[in-house]
Amino acid sequence: MKKAIYPGSFDPLTLGHLDIIKRAADIFDELTVGVLDNHAKTPLFSVEERVNILKEATKDISNVRVESFSGLLVDYAKQNGYHVSVRGLRAITDFEYELQIAQTNKMLSAGALDTMFLTSDVEYSYLSSSGVKEIASFGGDISHCVPAFEIDMIYAKYNNK
Ligand code: PNS
Repeated sequence: MKKAIYPGSFDPLTLGHLDIIKRAADIFDELTVGVLDNHAKTPLFSVEERVNILKEATKDISNVRVESFSGLLVDYAKQNGYHVSVRGLRAITDFEYELQIAQTNKMLSAGALDTMFLTSDVEYSYLSSSGVKEIASFGGDISHCVPAFEIDMIYAKYNNK
């Protein structure tokens, strides 16, 4: 069985992430979305909230699982038998950062964890989680950026601040 992990912060999940999830789920028999529980960052959504949002967004894709992980991706991948990490590339500006992560993971895993890039659909090439947060913080329209059910959850975070 060909399986892969799609790691990320997903804070918040965007339609660009969801597009990558759907396309990777078509390529692999099983895709795990790995939500990073990063204690160094103060996220908009807790890791539990992000896992629940991803589960809701992917509930109709039968071969997608959602889990959280902390620590090094290579350790989580080794423990769970993943040899491919999927990442999305929006533009050349992503490439340097993504190449660095991919090569670091290859080195840390002694070659056991490879990275597969899917180029984002042009429709979503401008989307980023940080952009969505900035727009939402000023009450702007995020309806073209995130799944419909997530919109009010994001605004609520800013209204409660
Ligand atoms: O959505 P993001 O924040 O761009 O995802 C970054 C992520 C989660 C893929 C990356 O930061 C990661 O894998 N972090 C876990 C810690 C780790 O393994 N670091 C070494 C590789 S840089």
